[in-house]
Amino acid sequence: MIVGIIGSGGREHAICNKIRESPKTSKIYCIPGNAGTSRIAENVDIKLDDFKLIKDFCLNNRIELLIVGPEQPLVDGIVDYFNDTKIKVFGPNKLASQLEGSKIFTKKICKKYKIPTANFRIFETLEDTINFLYTANYPTVIKADGLAAGKGVYICKSYEEGLIAAKEIFGGKFGSAKSILIEEFLVGEEMSYFILCDGKNYQFIGTAQDHKRVGEGDKGKNTGGMGCYSPSRLLSPELAEKINLKIIKPTLKAINELGSEYKGFLYIGLMVKNTDPYLVEFNVRMGDPECQTILPLLENDFIEVLISCCDGNLKKQVIKLNNKKSICIVLCAKGYPENYKKNTELKNLENLSLKHNEYLFHAGTKLENNKIIATGGRVLNFVSLSENFKNSRDDVIKLINDLNWDNGFFRKDIGHKVID
Ligand code: AMP
Ligand code: GLY
Repeated sequence: MIVGIIGSGGREHAICNKIRESPKTSKIYCIPGNAGTSRIAENVDIKLDDFKLIKDFCLNNRIELLIVGPEQPLVDGIVDYFNDTKIKVFGPNKLASQLEGSKIFTKKICKKYKIPTANFRIFETLEDTINFLYTANYPTVIKADGLAAGKGVYICKSYEEGLIAAKEIFGGKFGSAKSILIEEFLVGEEMSYFILCDGKNYQFIGTAQDHKRVGEGDKGKNTGGMGCYSPSRLLSPELAEKINLKIIKPTLKAINELGSEYKGFLYIGLMVKNTDPYLVEFNVRMGDPECQTILPLLENDFIEVLISCCDGNLKKQVIKLNNKKSICIVLCAKGYPENYKKNTELKNLENLSLKHNEYLFHAGTKLENNKIIATGGRVLNFVSLSENFKNSRDDVIKLINDLNWDNGFFRKDIGHKVID
């Protein structure tokens, strides 16, 4: 089978690697991919918003399965755009993608279907927002409605902080804002829960906990994710049962009742308080770096799994995850998430020797004149699976130290809740 993968991050390199393991794969194209994917697939330089060019390329190159990694093309309707072709596109359609594309769409579903989530209010003017902020309890959480690349969420400790957030959002910092969401601050421990859906049925495909803050001890600025461990320490059969009954089933029913269906990965961001799950957010894709942490645990033929999602017969598959402990650490360029140097060379990469159960996924890299160049803030993802989290983390740290990239930094405390 000829497969296309859309995206250029560590998530897409991990997907590419898993697809390559399937004996059913004959060729992989990554649109646009990175230096890591260029070693195992053919990279194709097309912009992600150029749906016409992507479709023409897929048709001309007989791509049969197209996997969409990031949220933006899904929210923009890439799946619907391929409806007039026979190509199987793995991911949710435009309507269902609003679960990530609009926080207000999701909150309205939560209210109608009684899905546990933070209490919330929606405001349409700055004036109404300010009036509410005078009397609000702090901390309070203020969110822009649309996609904001992981930004657009403010945890405000005071009226003054709330005012800044409201002004920035209505001022257009995250695109033109017709409304704003203010929600109750939830106390608890976060967990990310992942499922695969085929439009009718779904199956569990792992849990993870990422570390969003740049500094050790979970301090400093928010980032796209500095590392992850899987499985989450919070998961129990009772908690899974509650997540299924109170969150997943009503959400999929809501999408069906809107005349649509959900196909693809669904990422359920939760706050767990006294063994009760509260929905924080949905993402309509795998997480990054959660994907790099979880996919190496998957024992199924990944092509078979994705095709059965596209064909609506996921029931035929039994998803099997091995029970090792997985840790992923992200190696970043110094200065990230603020200003950092771009286009520095990553030497020594080819000399790293990876053992069984160790993985290196590229994120912000490109290949130029046969040299690997760091282009992004999050540059490389190192993953190890073993019998316990401490061994996995020690393995990863050793690999990063062996690479010895002088422009890089990373968090040494990933997984501290399950290790230290
Ligand atoms: P979101 O983009 O909605 O996932 O929010 C980003 C992060 O902000 C989440 O992963 C949480 O750490 C935090 N957050 C969002 N909403 C809340 C809330 N209601 N209470 C506490 N923390 C929150
Ligand atoms: N790691 C968080 C995300 O992918 O949204």
